[in-house]
Amino acid sequence: MGEVDQAFIQSIEHRANLDTIEIEGIPLIDLSLSHTTDINLLVSEIGNACQNWGFFQVINHGVPLELLEKIKVAAKAFFDQPVEEKRKVKRDEVNAMGYHESEHTKNVRDWKEVFDFLINDPSFLPASPETEDNEIRTLSNLWPETPPQFREVCQTYAREVEKLGYKLLELISLSLGLPSNRLNGYFEDHTTMMRLNHYPPCPFPELALGVGRHKDAGALTIVAQDDIGGLQVRRKSDEVWVPVKPTPNALVINVGDTIQVWSNEAYESVEHRVVVNSERERFSIPVFFFPSHYVMVKPLEELVNEGSPPKYKPYNFGKFFVARNRSDYKKLEVQNIQISDFKII
Ligand code: OGA
Ligand code: NI
Repeated sequence: MGEVDQAFIQSIEHRANLDTIEIEGIPLIDLSLSHTTDINLLVSEIGNACQNWGFFQVINHGVPLELLEKIKVAAKAFFDQPVEEKRKVKRDEVNAMGYHESEHTKNVRDWKEVFDFLINDPSFLPASPETEDNEIRTLSNLWPETPPQFREVCQTYAREVEKLGYKLLELISLSLGLPSNRLNGYFEDHTTMMRLNHYPPCPFPELALGVGRHKDAGALTIVAQDDIGGLQVRRKSDEVWVPVKPTPNALVINVGDTIQVWSNEAYESVEHRVVVNSERERFSIPVFFFPSHYVMVKPLEELVNEGSPPKYKPYNFGKFFVARNRSDYKKLEVQNIQISDFKII
């Protein structure tokens, strides 16, 4: 990745400002419930964070800290291998899991390499975005033989984060005034994916991005990051790009498009991006909570009424997701499908 390859160059308005700025960051929420804390207090903290920011960090989240350390070590060990080794588990258009070194966001190449796997292996998604095509595709994981323990650490970590995901969905449901298990049914055959991200040092960090600005399509994303920093969130109040400060033992949570639709926009999915630097590599590990492919996503009935009509038409999660992911592999001529395409105006 040495020379300035035009595929990585962001248009001027999307380039990063690399000056360090000190501004109010996203909320930090302690999830531990001792007998002195009131669950209602926690629920309202979560609700406020979802409403005002769409992003927050959590501590005392229940994911064992030694596992958090182990997954970071495993990610580094995997990406440290020669590229020929990593390409043995390269993903392709049929099997979307595994190693990938040229992802695009909004048609500009990202300065990163990734390894993806499903928590539920196999998972099922539509074979194509076409509505008349009912074929379902089976997706399965591709595991490398090296480094040793890699698979085991990845799977153990993913299962722990899955538990946290359900806990957060429950807190979010409560914060919307709904029963705690209101969203669980949408995840029976969830297509949740975990990703290891490696952002190598970039010789032209003022021109490229690790991940271009985007919103996450799923329900929730739970991200572990190292101490380098680079993730930035577009603050809702003034649209300023705010850095997410690496915080020891914390996980970063963000609301995705699916929750924006379910909540009828009470909680919005917020744009974010990753800035790279010229000196140090960075690792991050997101888990993207995706519903079952057959779920029709629409504003929850309890949250709509005559005075507050639904803001979105129902859409099939799997079809939406497959259509959206087409742009990961190649540059498309136009911006890809977005939830705004289903907006009722
Ligand atoms: C993503 C993402 C953030 C990060 O992969 O969708 O936003 O810190 N990653 O790597
Ligand atoms: Ni993201």
